[in-house]
Amino acid sequence: MKGIILAAGKGTRLHPMTTIVSKQLLPVYDKPMIYYPLSTLMLLGITDVLIITTEKDNNMFKSLLGDGLEIGIDIKYKIQEDANGIAEAFIIAEEFINNEPITLILGDNLFYGHGYLDFLRNKINDIEGAIIFGYWVKNAQAYGVVEFDKDNRAISLEEKPVIPKSNYAVPGLYIYDNQVVALSKTLKPSKRGELEITDLNNLYLNKNSLHVEVLSRGVAWLDTGTQKSLIEAGKFIETIESRQGLKVGCIEEIAYQLELIKKSQLEQIIKKMPENDYKDYLKSLL
Ligand code: G1P
Repeated sequence: MKGIILAAGKGTRLHPMTTIVSKQLLPVYDKPMIYYPLSTLMLLGITDVLIITTEKDNNMFKSLLGDGLEIGIDIKYKIQEDANGIAEAFIIAEEFINNEPITLILGDNLFYGHGYLDFLRNKINDIEGAIIFGYWVKNAQAYGVVEFDKDNRAISLEEKPVIPKSNYAVPGLYIYDNQVVALSKTLKPSKRGELEITDLNNLYLNKNSLHVEVLSRGVAWLDTGTQKSLIEAGKFIETIESRQGLKVGCIEEIAYQLELIKKSQLEQIIKKMPENDYKDYLKSLL
């Protein structure tokens, strides 16, 4: 299984913070936002990652994460020229996907919780159809929304409905089998001119091959697209980290725990870092 992080988009709602810096590079408490979705992919066992950015921001992501070797993974980069929608990512990534199953995570989506992806880890490579998630929120109209029947089967999906049929939003984490590129190519732009991820998921739903996994209320799913949600996510991470003394989304720690890098490689990473809390934390892992 390979993974894509979609970190394009203009971040207009966060202007002027995003005039120079990409939204997905802004800090969420003590690390750049993209560390969180990257750590989610790594925890799923994905080490082959494509990051899609705008042309303007591409080099900044490369400066931050390089080819991934330092943390034992492989990172490649592609550009999304215009805001043509999430589903365009699969067309851009066609060569990278190379007819394999693929996981897509949005660069501004942050997940936190114990064991919520455990059910996937061992079967992620054998996926047939698509797996998406449902998460209870107050303001479902801001998201893709999934409706369930009384047997908890997904029966409809709508993108940002004015009157949502349920409170279950669809978070920005999507897992597809190898039909995804071909299906994405059949999509037509929506009214807002985008290839919608919800339209893609509807194609899977209509073929009876969409599985919607409900994330329990014990899991935190935060997005960070507005000033308010960005600061809330930062406060959330700060609270957990201060209380536990453990970091969330620390990609170097995850690489070490998952044995993607050896102790000597972690030592190398630490050596290069300036003196600060992040470095002290990594030192404490040795
Ligand atoms: C996008 C998707 C939406 C999904 C959301 C999750 O919304 O279109 O279906 O629920 O991400 O963050 P957008 O970022 O375009 O507002």
